[in-house]
Amino acid sequence: MAADYIEPPPNDAPDKGRVEVTYPDAVNGESAAHFPIRKARVADVQELLELVNGFAAQNLMLPRGPQYIFENIRDYAVISDEAAGGRIVACGSLHVLWGDMAEIRSMAIDPDYQHRGLGRRLVAYLKEEARQLGVKSLFTFTLSEEFFARLGFTRRLRDELPPKVWSECSRCPKYFKCDEVGMVLEI
Ligand SMILES: CC(C)(COP(=O)(O)OP(=O)(O)OC[C@H]1O[C@@H](n2cnc3c(N)ncnc32)[C@H](O)[C@@H]1OP(=O)(O)O)[C@@H](O)C(=O)NCCC(=O)NCCS
Repeated sequence: MAADYIEPPPNDAPDKGRVEVTYPDAVNGESAAHFPIRKARVADVQELLELVNGFAAQNLMLPRGPQYIFENIRDYAVISDEAAGGRIVACGSLHVLWGDMAEIRSMAIDPDYQHRGLGRRLVAYLKEEARQLGVKSLFTFTLSEEFFARLGFTRRLRDELPPKVWSECSRCPKYFKCDEVGMVLEI
């Protein structure tokens, strides 16, 4: 395995209360080594655009342009299929909103790779990254309420959400007809 495949993210300053994330070593019978998680690189941007905007075209998530992804590349984590030449088959991002909260954005698993535990592994990876940053809660806007509920997120009413979570809404094509739900997980 290449040295830059990091799972979970390095923790230079372990704290005593930290909960270790363990990952399944099998993904539907396939070795997880074939699906490594790592931080995204600039060379990944074209594949990230295709993955995210394929779902955005179906109104399942927000579209992203190259400028947004380049500027926020350090937010993204990706999973590749090593048996398919390292093709990126899943991504998700962690965007710090404030001292106490980070948002999970752009969770996208290639349709051929869904329901194989990749989304769960990505959220665990991003959660561990948030914990190491000292963030206390995770937030997401999503149409996939059941997926995030399985991972422990709970739905919040709009007026229970802190103002910071609305920062992207003015740029959102769904601004006047938002159908996403806000969900929170204390970590
Ligand atoms: C939603 C999505 C991220 C889930 O990823 P995934 O890799 O298929 O999910 P996993 O296999 O890791 O499933 C994790 C858990 O969620 C459940 N789950 C996954 N997708 C689900 C769905 N659409 N409805 C209900 N439950 C779902 C699984 O059954 C599993 O539960 P279990 O472990 O208790 O059995 C993926 O389907 C996707 O990319 N969808 C299109 C884009 C999208 O909607 N993104 C999220 C909004 S930003």
